Amino acid sequence: MVRNLEQRPDTVLGLATGGTMEPVYARLVADYTAGHIDFSAIRTFNLDEYVGLAPDDPSSFMHYMRKHFLNRINIPAENAYIPRGNVADAHAEAMRYEYAIVASGGVDLQLLGLGANGHIGFNEPPAILSSLTHVAALTQATRAANARYFDKPCNVPRHAITMGVGTIMRAKEIVLLAIGAEKAEAAANMIEGQVHENCPASALQDHRKVTVVLDQKAAARLKHAR
Ligand code: PGA
Repeated sequence: MVRNLEQRPDTVLGLATGGTMEPVYARLVADYTAGHIDFSAIRTFNLDEYVGLAPDDPSSFMHYMRKHFLNRINIPAENAYIPRGNVADAHAEAMRYEYAIVASGGVDLQLLGLGANGHIGFNEPPAILSSLTHVAALTQATRAANARYFDKPCNVPRHAITMGVGTIMRAKEIVLLAIGAEKAEAAANMIEGQVHENCPASALQDHRKVTVVLDQKAAARLKHAR
């Protein structure tokens, strides 16, 4: 990825949030600080944002992105896109966001985490595998998994604006990372199961250029790990 950014300083990056991504951003910031990467011409599109949260809300994904990445590199603020959560019409915002991705020429390299339920972005199972950016309802399991970012579990929003699986599939290259035993079942379904709406990440089987990085615990349920 670093090589990719060195060679193409105007790369369009698709970005994800969550615990899995924190070391990735730490590494990119370290490479920037060491003078290896210049982010001044890069554009970024985040996967998703909670409906109802303002960009400066400490639980918003914009806040996460600024804290871990955007405020620590030389990306111009106007080049970092993330859906606006605190808008009157979230559906219109989702359409506007999809258009902005297309207008940028499309995502060159998309980073993805994996939900324990097989979600990518906030595309919760059962997911329409051709969907574009839309307003999605979060499952109880996902709200519980993300409650650690909120002062009270009941404050986790019920909806998010998310790139659709179809949006994600249009990225020219995808890198998915999953760490830990709680991702093992989803990782096995994603790689060895049928492409199915019950595991949104399984759609990636049909993508031409995807790399999946798992630690041993996340890979433990693969039948053909060798
Ligand atoms: P995590 O989230 O990295 O915090 O486990 C991943 C996801 O839900 O996509």
